[in-house]
Amino acid sequence: MASFQASCTVLSTNPRSHSSSSTQPLSAKPSHLFTNPRRSHRFQVSCDAKKNVETSQGKIDRRNMLLGLGGLYSAANLVSNPSAYADPVQAPDFTKCGDAHDVATGALLDAKCCPPLPDKIIDYEIPKFEVLRKRPAAHMASKEQVAKYEKAIQAMRDLDTSHPEDPRGFMQQANIHCAYCNGAHDQVGNYDKLDLQVHNSWLFFPFHRWYLYFYERILGSLINDPTFALPFWNWDNPKGMTLPPIFDKSSSPLYDEKRDPKNNGSAIVDLTFSGSTDPLQLVANNLSSIYSEMVRSVSTTTDFVGKPYCAGSKPSPGGGSSENGSHTGIHWWVGTKEPTGPNKFNEDMGNFYSAGRDPVFYCHHSNVDRMWTIWRDVVQTDIPKDITSSNYLNAEFLFYDENKRLVRVKAGDCFDQRKLGYDYDRVDLPWLNYRPPPKAVKAKVSNISDTKTAASVLPVNLKDTVRIIVPKSAKGKANEQLVLEDIQTDTTKFIKFDVFINDEDDKIEELDRAEYAGSFAQVPHKSKNTQGKATISLKLTDLYDDIDVSEDDTIVVTIVPRSNGKDVTIGGIKVIPVPTAAQSS
Ligand code: C2O
Repeated sequence: MASFQASCTVLSTNPRSHSSSSTQPLSAKPSHLFTNPRRSHRFQVSCDAKKNVETSQGKIDRRNMLLGLGGLYSAANLVSNPSAYADPVQAPDFTKCGDAHDVATGALLDAKCCPPLPDKIIDYEIPKFEVLRKRPAAHMASKEQVAKYEKAIQAMRDLDTSHPEDPRGFMQQANIHCAYCNGAHDQVGNYDKLDLQVHNSWLFFPFHRWYLYFYERILGSLINDPTFALPFWNWDNPKGMTLPPIFDKSSSPLYDEKRDPKNNGSAIVDLTFSGSTDPLQLVANNLSSIYSEMVRSVSTTTDFVGKPYCAGSKPSPGGGSSENGSHTGIHWWVGTKEPTGPNKFNEDMGNFYSAGRDPVFYCHHSNVDRMWTIWRDVVQTDIPKDITSSNYLNAEFLFYDENKRLVRVKAGDCFDQRKLGYDYDRVDLPWLNYRPPPKAVKAKVSNISDTKTAASVLPVNLKDTVRIIVPKSAKGKANEQLVLEDIQTDTTKFIKFDVFINDEDDKIEELDRAEYAGSFAQVPHKSKNTQGKATISLKLTDLYDDIDVSEDDTIVVTIVPRSNGKDVTIGGIKVIPVPTAAQSS
């Protein structure tokens, strides 16, 4: 059968866009989609989806599956699915769940992380909430809040022993994460067994928001308190930059013994893998990298939320700046770092298959989720805050709710956390104006040794630092971004590299400098497929001002490996104008 490329048409104001569904979020604001009204009304982002069969095949498979599971859907539901033309990722088929293996070693990852089989699937209806669940910062949670939290987690843990098949149990909940990111679920549809992967793409925020939503509701129902709210690990504030003390008592149900023993007590979080031993430098690096991933390096919507991933896409086309950045940093920092022995896969937090077994995972992700709300509500930018492609809005996930019902939800129905009945306590945002000071003296690019042209060095392996001369696209005060393409990694390893521009000082452990452009990082996981070739784009506009390069024709891009550089290859590097239809990839 001929294979062909399907492109994910992202945000279109043309009438053929598939936005007629009543499930479209109210927050989509078409008038904000273009910053320049004279530009084209269509903007294409390729989803890199390969299909081996006709477009309808996946839907036929899915209908069979759903009928088999109780036939809740009428044919009309399927036909009126607004994704009939495009192809959003569909909910997995639990009846086909497989094992999670480590591809590198073939070892079974101590995990058969398949969920219990349901007798039917219910389209989830969001209840009307009268009281918001207010999520507190973990280090500021009241005694009463902590007591409830411990009691609820203990109740979840008790289910593991009393009712191991209960989908509300602690391990069952942890396994949801494993199954959605270690190759246990294939994509539904005839796609040569492509992994369903909820990381390293635009599915990241919606999947985890829904996951935590049900987790929080289950905890609340286990202690009979519908107002129960999951604390957030406030690692974006210096006062929250340690392991929250409530997770650090071995007698507490919030404790997990599979953590890096160095990183408890007053040890300062190292979000950036900098390895610095200076606490002040660690705080500065953390704030600087959060500022970069939330503000300075972001020029398009997908830069922040992640690259398009549709039915038939290879896994991991590229995570958003927040996922790649502080999100991955915490996973790395908390997990074990034993090269051999029973925790050699960086358990628990340092590998996707086991991350959900550490209660701090949900507290960490509560803050990751909070950063999404802050980006949408607080960060000032012309960029549209939400993607309106039906391929995004109609991507589906399945979760068990607090009544043990298997429910189907859509990515596009979760953008407003208040509609889901929760919000976050307000705390300071010390990173929000943490722009590094401009360089006092313009760099002499000729001082930078060992530079190579892109043509001579690509594709480049990152076992060592590389310095590449790249032409700018224009002189003057250009609005440009640096694009690193065809990034290929060993998915079973922690990967991290940092990018600097015209960096003659080479103080690589300091990220609070004008030359720092951004980073790429990845949490280990298993994939049975070749990954998509990841791309990241880093906005250079403010950086150009800060290092004074407007009169230059070229820049020197320094790429510094921080973790397993030998397992990363970058295929392409270029500087381009920031696309005007601001949701481009
Ligand atoms: Cu699903 Cu932090 O990972």
